Order: sequence, then C-alpha cells, then structure tokens
Amino acid sequence: MALEDGSSGTAKVPAGASTGSREARELRDGDPSRYGGRGVQKAVAHVEGELARAVVGLPAEDQEAVDRALREADGTRDKSRLGANAIVGVSLAVARAQAASAGTPLHRHLAGLFARTAPGEGAPDGGAAGGPGGRVRLPVPLMNVVNGGSHAPNRLDFQEFMLVPWGFPTFAEALRAGVEVYHALGRLLSEYGLAAGVGDEGGFAPPFSRNLEAVEVLVWAIERAGYRPGDEVALALDPAASVFYRDGRYVLAGEGRALDSGELVDLYEDWASRHPIVSIEDGLAEDDREGWRELARRLGRRLQLVGDDLFVTDPELVRRGAEDGLANAVLVKVNQVGTLSEALATIRTARRFGWAAIVSHRSGETDDTTIADLAVGAGCGQIKAGAPARGERVAKYNRLLAIEREAGPTAEFPGRDAFAVLQ
Ligand code: PGA
Ligand code: ZN
Repeated sequence: MALEDGSSGTAKVPAGASTGSREARELRDGDPSRYGGRGVQKAVAHVEGELARAVVGLPAEDQEAVDRALREADGTRDKSRLGANAIVGVSLAVARAQAASAGTPLHRHLAGLFARTAPGEGAPDGGAAGGPGGRVRLPVPLMNVVNGGSHAPNRLDFQEFMLVPWGFPTFAEALRAGVEVYHALGRLLSEYGLAAGVGDEGGFAPPFSRNLEAVEVLVWAIERAGYRPGDEVALALDPAASVFYRDGRYVLAGEGRALDSGELVDLYEDWASRHPIVSIEDGLAEDDREGWRELARRLGRRLQLVGDDLFVTDPELVRRGAEDGLANAVLVKVNQVGTLSEALATIRTARRFGWAAIVSHRSGETDDTTIADLAVGAGCGQIKAGAPARGERVAKYNRLLAIEREAGPTAEFPGRDAFAVLQ
C-alpha cells in the first residue's frame, strides 16, 4: 500500500483452525491442484483489482472511510465475495502506511483512531493517543503453553491451557516469568517421557487425555520455575467448546464422557475453586446461549468469561451478548470481522459495558505484529499471542518489549487491573 507522499505499509493475514460459524469468510481458491485447495490467488486478485480501485484516492488518515469503501466494494454481510482475508490485509496496510506517513509508531496511530471512534471514552488512561502525559498500557500476555483440540494431534479435548503472568511490575518481567514457566514445563514433561513436540500455537502437545492433567502440570511448572501460582502466574483456558458440542452435549472424547452444559459449568466451577484459573474463553458452544447465561450467572462475578466463537469480534453480537448477560469479555481478532474500524468498534462496545477486550492472534499466524500495537493502542490490557516459541508468536512478544522500552517511564503494566471482573 503506497501513499502519495511515498510512504508505504504492508500487512500479512492470519487464519484460524477453530473458526466461529459467524466469522467473516476468507476466500480460498478451492483448486485442489494448488495448496490442496487453500491457495489465495482469487483474494490477491481482488486486492490488486476491485479493492485497490475502491480505496485509491481516499485519505489514508480516514480509516473509517477506507473501511467503509472496502465493505461496500464487497457488498456482502460476511465479506465472502471479495474475501475477508483480502479486505483485512488492505485495511491494516492502510493503517501502517498512514502511521509511516505521520512518522508515528503504529500503536500511537491506532490509539488516535481508537480515541476518534470512541468519543468521550478516549484511549486508556487519558490517552495512549499521545496526549500530554499519555500512558502506554502494555498488555498482560495470555500464553498458550499446552495445546489440544484442533491445534494438536493429541487427545486433549480442550484447545488451550494458558499462563497468565500478571503479578509483575512490567511486561518484560511478566514475559520472563512466562518463558521460565514454559521451559520448566518442557523439562517436567521430558522427565515423565511426555515431551511430544509443540502444537499450532507453540504450546506443548503432551499425550494427556484428561484435561485436568494439563491444568495440574501447569501449576506444578509454575512452582518449579520459582513463582507463586495465582499471585504471580495464574491460568486461563480456552476449551473452544463449539468444536466438541454435539447434539446438545459436550463430548469429552479423550475422557470417554459427555456432559450437558450444567455439568460442564459444574466442572469449571470445581476446577476454578481448586486451581488458580482466572479466565475461561469459549467455555460453552456458540449456539448454546442458554448455557452461556447459566455460566455467566454462576461464575461471571468470579471469572473472566470470554466470547470468541460466540461474538466473532462483531460489535453488534457483543452488544446483544452484553444485554443478554452471556459473558463479561470478548476476544478480538481483526480478521474475524474483516476491518480495523470494526475491530475498534468491538473494543469500544466492550468497554461501554465494562467488559475486557483481549486482542488475539490466530492459530495460523504470520510474523506480522500489528496485534501487539493494537493491544497497546486501544489499551486493552490483555493479549493472547501463544507460547514463547515459534517465530510468529515470539515476534508479537518482541514487538511488545520494544514498545515498552521506547515508552520508558510512560509505560504501564496493568497486571490484575486488566481483568475488569476481578476488581
Ligand atoms: P483459531 O483459534 O485461530 O484456530 O480460531 C484460536 C482461538 O480459538 O482462540
Ligand atoms: Zn478461542
């Protein structure tokens, strides 16, 4: 993406494995002779053709106008005609080009956009938007260090078991704790002959079949690394329950049992009472709204309950979810909704309801680091970017380290304060 003044920006687009059914649609070629049907020549042709024609001549500083033009060029509700993968790439490249043109770090440019789209609510703590004395709010990393579900070839039904290193004064120290626990975990697994490589998001993929084993081994690894479970390093889960929901029941194939939603909520309640679990994402399936209501009623004051497949980064679905009392936090994946402006609107909607918003990677990632800047720019306070392993995950953490260092004394790390519901 090139601007008139010669500035340019590029973006790379991720893809998910456990996608929500209401996500914006990515366009794949479907030609089995190339990349097993997963090629993207059509999407690329749309970037270079219809989408380029739609945005050429627009002012790059008006991201909303750019994103509107992209949506109108596509013309479908789910962005399936030109492809959400094509659209989101253009949307993000425009933001990067504009930041370059203004000579502004991307997170500051995004903070400015966020403040503009959220009149009166502003950027975090008086404006990471670069106002005088503006703070730069780093996120607590939710680090997925045991992979199961659609992300690993083991028998774990739950998809993600995450570390939440929150009891530290800076992002750098939190990240260090996460890295040390990750390596302690690796050593523990080897000692027990359970090391089995890593899954899609860089977490270990041990041959456990009981989901609780993963939780127990994480607590053990936190202690082995010399940290206090809970106070310093807590845990988060993303069961991605839509994937194992069949005919109204949650089928835990690895454990040889099927639960109804009430029983699965019982399980979460029991685990959270015995282990330092502070956040559960997609604890129930996207179509089980009654179940979500029960989950929120029973645990919503004690745990962060995050909708991913449930809300697919759609501001309207978040609004309805908040009014129906389904959750208290939303996962934000820009490619799930298809444009930067819509993702910012989702974060704004979450904030309006007092919800947390967690900026997230996808299981299929690139080395693009935009989500690091987005988490900071919109002051989300939490990011989900995988294990500290595999270059495409580490790239996000390295970017956050650089942002924190550049911000110097204006940087702040919210720790537990980022978890609205736990205050
Ligand atoms: P996905 O999974 O990128 O494979 O959809 C990530 C998640 O469920 O959070
Ligand atoms: Zn998820």
